[in-house]
Amino acid sequence: MFTIMVANPKGGAGKSTLTTNIAGMLAALKQRVVIMDLDNQQSATNWLARRPEALAKILPWAEDSDMVELRAFAPQWMVIDTHARLRRADRTYLLSRANVVLVPVNPSVFDIEATAKFLLKLHQDPNVQSGRVAIGLVGSRTDSRTRIAQELSSFFARSGLPVVAYIPDSVLYPQCARDGTSIYELPRTRTEHQLDAWQPLVAWLKSQIARAREIKYPHSQSSVPAPARAAH
Ligand SMILES: Nc1ncnc2c1ncn2[C@@H]1O[C@H](COP(=O)(O)OP(=O)(O)O)[C@@H](O)[C@H]1O
Ligand SMILES: [Mg+2]
Repeated sequence: MFTIMVANPKGGAGKSTLTTNIAGMLAALKQRVVIMDLDNQQSATNWLARRPEALAKILPWAEDSDMVELRAFAPQWMVIDTHARLRRADRTYLLSRANVVLVPVNPSVFDIEATAKFLLKLHQDPNVQSGRVAIGLVGSRTDSRTRIAQELSSFFARSGLPVVAYIPDSVLYPQCARDGTSIYELPRTRTEHQLDAWQPLVAWLKSQIARAREIKYPHSQSSVPAPARAAH
């Protein structure tokens, strides 16, 4: 099961937006996806509950989930939505199970500062150091014409990490959040601009799947991780 962890220590960075849209994109591609929602605010879980019946099913992976149902579902993907105060032990555990970490960052100096510290912590992790887990940066709510968006780009360039997408600010995201859907499940005429912005992220994920196949895992990575506890 290919596992995508979405993390950033700032609230409002776009973690749940990224989580739900990636899950929706994969489900629209007929992939079997589960979401592990570690945030007590339960944004991704509530989004799942609002999801229209007609759309491809995405299951929650939670402590109270029906394990028989989950195993029968045989998920191919897990997207982990984390919270702002991820403890070191939880971070280490999640990184030992993840294939990639996506770090969404808002164009704001406060967010850039907090993310810089967070990236240092990620770099200290053995799974990141060994190169087993790849990190991808995502610009959230960016408008390339603004100076602060350019500062975000410079910060990304200095980090030396791949920038996998700049997601523009759009009313479509709060609308999708409200409706339990994703930009991949709306009429294309409304989403063309957004889908273009997501294309590099999709290409990066594909390259990471190919990379994961070549990596020998120390333990059975195909098994599903134990449901982790949410923040209190
Ligand atoms: N690209 C975007 N355009 C417009 N609004 C966005 C975008 N990304 C996120 N948002 C909105 O910003 C707020 C915070 O995003 P959210 O994904 O909940 O962040 P986090 O999970 O990191 O706290 C939400 O109201 C969300 O709908
Ligand atoms: Mg959230």
